[in-house]
This record gives sequence, C-alpha cells and structure tokens, in this order.
Amino acid sequence: MKILVTGGCGYIGSHTVVELLENDCEVVIIDDLSNSDKIVLNHIQKITGKMPIFYEGDMKNFDLLRKIFQEHTFDAVIHFAGYKAVGESVQKPLMYYENNLESTIHLCEVMNEFHCKKLVFSSSATVYGSPEKLPIKEDAKLSTTNPYGTTKLMIEHILRDLVVSDSNWSIALLRYFNPIGAHTSGLLGENPKGIPNNLMPYIIKVATKELPQLNVFGNDYDTKDGTGVRDYIHVVDLAHGHLCAVNKIINSTGIDAYNLGTGKGYSVLELVSTFERVNNIKIPYEICPRRSGDIAECYADPSYAKEKLNWEATKNLEEMCRDSYNYVSNINNK
Ligand code: NAD
Ligand code: UD1
Repeated sequence: MKILVTGGCGYIGSHTVVELLENDCEVVIIDDLSNSDKIVLNHIQKITGKMPIFYEGDMKNFDLLRKIFQEHTFDAVIHFAGYKAVGESVQKPLMYYENNLESTIHLCEVMNEFHCKKLVFSSSATVYGSPEKLPIKEDAKLSTTNPYGTTKLMIEHILRDLVVSDSNWSIALLRYFNPIGAHTSGLLGENPKGIPNNLMPYIIKVATKELPQLNVFGNDYDTKDGTGVRDYIHVVDLAHGHLCAVNKIINSTGIDAYNLGTGKGYSVLELVSTFERVNNIKIPYEICPRRSGDIAECYADPSYAKEKLNWEATKNLEEMCRDSYNYVSNINNK
C-alpha cells in the first residue's frame, strides 16, 4: 500500500510512519515543519532502514498537493497536519480555523480530483467537551470549549457531509485521548519548545530541571484523589491504531468515529508518582488553582475500536513514563 501522511514529521505522525514502513507500506510525507524538524526523517530511517519520500510545504498550497498526487498514486491518506495548541487557538482563532480547515478542504478536493477517497483523520477526545457519562462512547454528545476543538468538530462535520455527497468515500475519524510516551529507541518523541501546556511534557521539563516544579491544577475535583483524571495512551499504540484504521477503510465505504484510548483513567498525582518510580527522579509539585476550561475526568470506552478495527492499546502507564523520559534523556545527551 502507498500512503500519504500529512504532518508526518510531527509527534504522532512520525511514530505512525514507522509503523507503516515496518508493515511494508510505502510512505510519502508532506509537512511544512512548522512544528517539527527534518531530522525526524533520519531518525525514521535509523529505526526502519527506510527513508520516506518527503515534500516540505504547506498543505494550503493547492499546486503542491496536486504535484504530489500527480507524482504518486495513493491507496489512502492519513491526515495529521494541523495546529494543536489549545491556548494558542484561543489567542489566534483565525490562524487555527484557516490552517486546520483549509488544509483539510484542499486535501479532500485534490483527493477527489485524483480519485483517492480513503482517509484517516486525526480527531480528538476534545470533541466530547464536558462528557456527561463515563467511560465515553462514540455516540456521546459532541461539543467544544475552544477554537482548536471546534476545528476538529467542524472537520468531522465536513467529512460526514462529503460522504453523504459521494458514497465512494471511506473515512475513519480517530478520536485520540491523551497521547504520551515515545518510541523505545529514544529517537522519536515529543519535546515542545518553551513552557509546555500538557502534563507529560511539563513533567519532563521538571525532570530535566528546565522548570523548577509542576503546578498541579486543582485537587478539589470529584475524582479519586481530587486531581484531574485522563486516559493516557502510548503513542506507539496510537500509531498502530492508524494502520488498523487504514486496513479497515481500504475495504469499506462510509464514515465512522473510533475512540483511541486505553479505557483507564489516571489522576495527575498517579502519573507523577509512576513517573518518579520508574525513572527514579523526584518531581516537586505544588497544588494550584484549577485551570480554566479543564474537566474533572475523561476516559474512553475503547470497545468499538476493538470490535471494528481489531485494535486495542497494549502498553501501560509505566512504559509511557519510561519511554517519554528516555527520549528526552537521549536527545539531551547528544
Ligand atoms: P504535531 O504538531 O507534532 O504534528 C503536526 C505536524 O503537522 C507538524 O509536523 C507540523 O509541522 C505539521 N503541519 C501543521 N500545519 C501544517 C500545514 N498547513 N501544512 C503542512 N504541515 C503542517 O502534532 P501531533 O501531536 O503529532 O498531532 C497530530 C494530529 O493529531 C493533529 O491534527 C492534532 O490536532 C491531533 N491530536 C493531537 C493530540 C495530542 O495530544 N498530541 C490529541 C488529539 C489530537
Ligand atoms: C488538553 C486540551 C485538549 C487536548 C489535549 C491533548 C485544554 C483545556 N485541553 O487536554 O483540548 O485535546 O490537551 O492535547 O488544554 N495538568 C496539571 N498541570 C499542568 C498541565 C496539566 O495539573 O501543568 C493537569 C490538567 O489539569 C489535567 C491533566 O493534567 O487534569 C492533563 O492535562 P493536559 O495534558 O493538558 O491534557 P487535557 O487537559 O486532557
């Protein structure tokens, strides 16, 4: 199979490219490197022994997209490219709507033109807003609380309309829960620049002493220890979910959404203590006020993905904590 991976140099995209190459797929990447680095391609090659074909450029550039489809015939596209920082999306909503929506619309137009109608889209558990029932099933009510989340929900609607208009399309909407962890080689992972918003990257910066302590946003939620509970999922498990989704859409038509999570919820303090134990590092923390917009608990019912995609997460919280830190220790030692 030949797959176009948009945003393939990014955190989840790069792990998925490895998974695809290791399963004998040919991979072409388009990425504008706005939130990634070209060195990732060398790391992918080190792991798999194969170098994916790479186009550096913006998905909003129609001519480039057309050129890629003229030069290759794809069996399917996995669409990761987009901006993803919640806080930034509140500050710069137009930038988020423009990048995330325009990229997707252009992609679908060019796919249509070249008769490639198999698409896997990176959605997010953020489309469940403040969930009414736990664990969350795919048919739960959808809503969003920030422009980033709204782009994901809008794209889900756009893709559903597309399938109604043309029943030859086959689309998987993958709603990721909280991806953390890294490739066990220590060559791929996530290490955002500046002060991170998400919990694991923040813990890592405290572990490497770039930040003095973790601020725990609230310990008065109605949860096991009062801190927020999330469904953390290892990025390698997530990457495998994309291969399963491609296998599904290749032989079907229509559109469906799938939760990619473990089904287990862990609190902030559980994540901190697991990280401390497996990496033998102290993470100093202070309890702070709640972060505005946060929900108490969020975890998946992943049974639909198991039933329909034959996928389930296999890696535990210890492995997620070990691999996240291993990646950063590895790059810091270079
Ligand atoms: P990432 O930022 O590491 O990867 C996205 C990649 O897309 C980057 O390499 C970036 O350079 C590229 N990109 C962005 N806009 C582009 C454009 N216009 N043209 C070409 N390339 C472009 O993010 P990630 O964590 O790997 O996330 C991948 C996808 O999954 C995103 O769509 C994100 O919204 C979604 N998602 C991520 C999470 C998470 O916690 N990481 C959770 C749910 C959903
Ligand atoms: C955030 C986004 C969500 C996005 C997801 C994955 C918000 C409001 N939501 O979700 O839209 O899909 O990331 O990218 O930003 N925490 C701390 N201290 C920190 C950071 C986090 O205590 O410094 C806590 C949070 O309160 C939460 C948990 O850790 O309880 C996880 O936070 P985070 O990693 O930011 O993920 P989400 O809040 O699930």
